Amino acid sequence: MSLKENSSEKRKYWDKRAAAYNKLSWVKNKTLSVIADEAGQYNKCLDLGCGTGAVLKTLISLNGDAEYVGIDISDSMSKDHELYQVKNIDLDILTPEDIIKISPDLVTARMVMHHITNPGELVNVLHSGLDNNAKFILCEGVVPSSDGEIVDWYTEMFKYKEKRHTFLPETLLSLFDQEKWDVKLQKVVTRDNSLSNWINNSGISADNQPIIRDMHFDAPESVVKAYNFKRTTNGDILMDWEFVILTATVKSNFVM
Ligand SMILES: C[S@@+](CC[C@H](N)C(=O)[O-])C[C@H]1O[C@@H](n2cnc3c(N)ncnc32)[C@H](O)[C@@H]1O
Repeated sequence: MSLKENSSEKRKYWDKRAAAYNKLSWVKNKTLSVIADEAGQYNKCLDLGCGTGAVLKTLISLNGDAEYVGIDISDSMSKDHELYQVKNIDLDILTPEDIIKISPDLVTARMVMHHITNPGELVNVLHSGLDNNAKFILCEGVVPSSDGEIVDWYTEMFKYKEKRHTFLPETLLSLFDQEKWDVKLQKVVTRDNSLSNWINNSGISADNQPIIRDMHFDAPESVVKAYNFKRTTNGDILMDWEFVILTATVKSNFVM
């Protein structure tokens, strides 16, 4: 399959998800305020995989003087953008020159790195294109434990949703060369997330929805504990989700 066809397959997948995306309760969760706190002072923000603009709209509401640009592969996901500029670029083929042209001093990326073919390569592209002291704030959902049974369950379950990477906090850290970046990692836990809300609104095929639901109801005890599963009387499961927010700053003493 050529790279072009690849991009169009990805675009089709995200275009289909656009209508239901904002019904996902996690989209407005507290990771937004942690990202905003980490952002500090900046003049131009680039949001990678901006989607429906949850991150950009939060930052704009707090710092209306800065400039804002989003990148997203899907025009349907990112069409609501009067307040910022959107570029439809596949992040798998982003270049340092693209970054230099936009010249942000802040880059954000919430819940997009697990979709990128080579996340480490994207981090290197950012490093090559950003100026010293520019900041990159990355936010990803992570497996809540490095226990093999839990990691395997998570990876297997997500196979029924989409092709993606499984991240642990240490996998995210390993994307950054500590000689080139100053890195800080924070964990955020959100409580009582509804399994049904997620299954119904996250683009899982009709055939795979019951498989994913059953995998939760039949999950091993280690998974039930790690996610603090609570079964409800209306057939839902409420669960705790863990996110990592990693703030990486380009070191000013880096010499090629
Ligand atoms: C899970 S959504 C996250 C949206 C937004 N960052 C948020 O936090 O609400 C992932 C977004 O990344 C975009 N995306 C996925 N793969 C991409 C790629 N290879 N290049 C550019 N955008 C991509 C999708 O279109 C989608 O809008």
